Amino acid sequence: MSVTIVVGTQWGDEGKAKIIDYLSENIDIIARYQGGANAGHTVVVKNKQYIFHLIPSGILYPNTICILGNGVVIDPKAFLEELDSLTKENIHYEGRIFISDACHIVLPFHKLIDAHKENLSEGQKIGTTKRGIGICYADKMLRIGIRIGDLYYNLEERLQNYINIKNKELKYLYNLPEISYEELYKELKDFAERIKSMVIHTPTYFEKALKEGKSILLEGAQGTALDIDHGTYPFVTSSNTTTGGALTGTGIAYHYIENVYGICKAYVTRVGEGPFPTELKGEMGEELRKYGNEYGATTGRPRRCGWFDVELVKHAGRINGLTGLVLTKLDVLSHFDTIPVAIGYEFENNKIDYFPSYGLESCKPIYEYLPGWKSDISNIKSYSELPANCKKYIEKLQEWTNIPIKYISLGPNRSQTLVL
Ligand code: IMP
Repeated sequence: MSVTIVVGTQWGDEGKAKIIDYLSENIDIIARYQGGANAGHTVVVKNKQYIFHLIPSGILYPNTICILGNGVVIDPKAFLEELDSLTKENIHYEGRIFISDACHIVLPFHKLIDAHKENLSEGQKIGTTKRGIGICYADKMLRIGIRIGDLYYNLEERLQNYINIKNKELKYLYNLPEISYEELYKELKDFAERIKSMVIHTPTYFEKALKEGKSILLEGAQGTALDIDHGTYPFVTSSNTTTGGALTGTGIAYHYIENVYGICKAYVTRVGEGPFPTELKGEMGEELRKYGNEYGATTGRPRRCGWFDVELVKHAGRINGLTGLVLTKLDVLSHFDTIPVAIGYEFENNKIDYFPSYGLESCKPIYEYLPGWKSDISNIKSYSELPANCKKYIEKLQEWTNIPIKYISLGPNRSQTLVL
């Protein structure tokens, strides 16, 4: 059994990429299992920053194999741009990146419709990344989408049928220009040629690798509260970001799973619309954003910021079967005299001790106040050297969430990580 899953416990941007990069040193294969180029995974190595949208951040290690599992939706343009940026950085990826033949493809009209719907005055604005993710997954569920494997088998007929449907939608539903079959066919054929050597049947690949004793890390994108089933619907992404999604999005059987690490920020952030009980709207929110440099890696949008929410992380523990937590960006809290932590909610005059499926916007957080430590911790190399109030903060979060904290992160570099 040698599969580790890494999931976000909040609304994404918890610092998963940094931790995945840190854990990857001893991993043979890293696989994404859901989402697409909506994700923005930032890693800093030797003071150089890399941002990945589709390719697992494990590509920075010279021998790690990186796989896009069947649950990922692939935007050809974004994928090829990312390959080109690897070449520019002298990162050799030949023979190290593989794509499932069952991945669905994000096409130009998915992005057009996503952006168009977000800009409409009627209907609900989700605050999506406008990367076409939800529209592509919707077509997957409607069973009309195009998969990577379709590029090599009977593409003409499938694409013609698909375009007939989409052109009606574009014209009559959205009043948008129709798409040309010939252009898209050519684009897809060129893409197919370029990625041909990377396309594999992932379930058999993973099964063989596991039987050979290889270690696999499954890299989640977004976070538990953005999960289509367990998140703050409808303000969610369109995939299962959680442990269940890691299994269906790769075809790896459950009994191989050894560890599930939940990554959580020492406070909370969110981009896009939707409820956020501990959000700080005034000056304090601005301060958290400034100290934490909280701007989206994909869209550059300022992230909404708030205090740590225990029920949110307990929810993630429950849904994902977390075996440990990784607490990130603890250094950002060094600036505050007092640090509030929400330990529960009041909903319609009753205390509730779970993360509700509805009415979160009316939940009032119940706070406990912990003393800050007001000193720079970013270069500390062992747990024992941390200020007493910082250790107290970590211990209280562990006690309230009832999940062991296994690692803490004190800055963006690999070296700023402590094992507990
Ligand atoms: P979509 O995934 O682009 O459809 O956007 C749906 C929601 O998920 C929006 O609130 C986005 O801001 C959010 N979202 C998508 N990807 C990320 C991410 O990588 N980090 C944080 N939020 C994300």
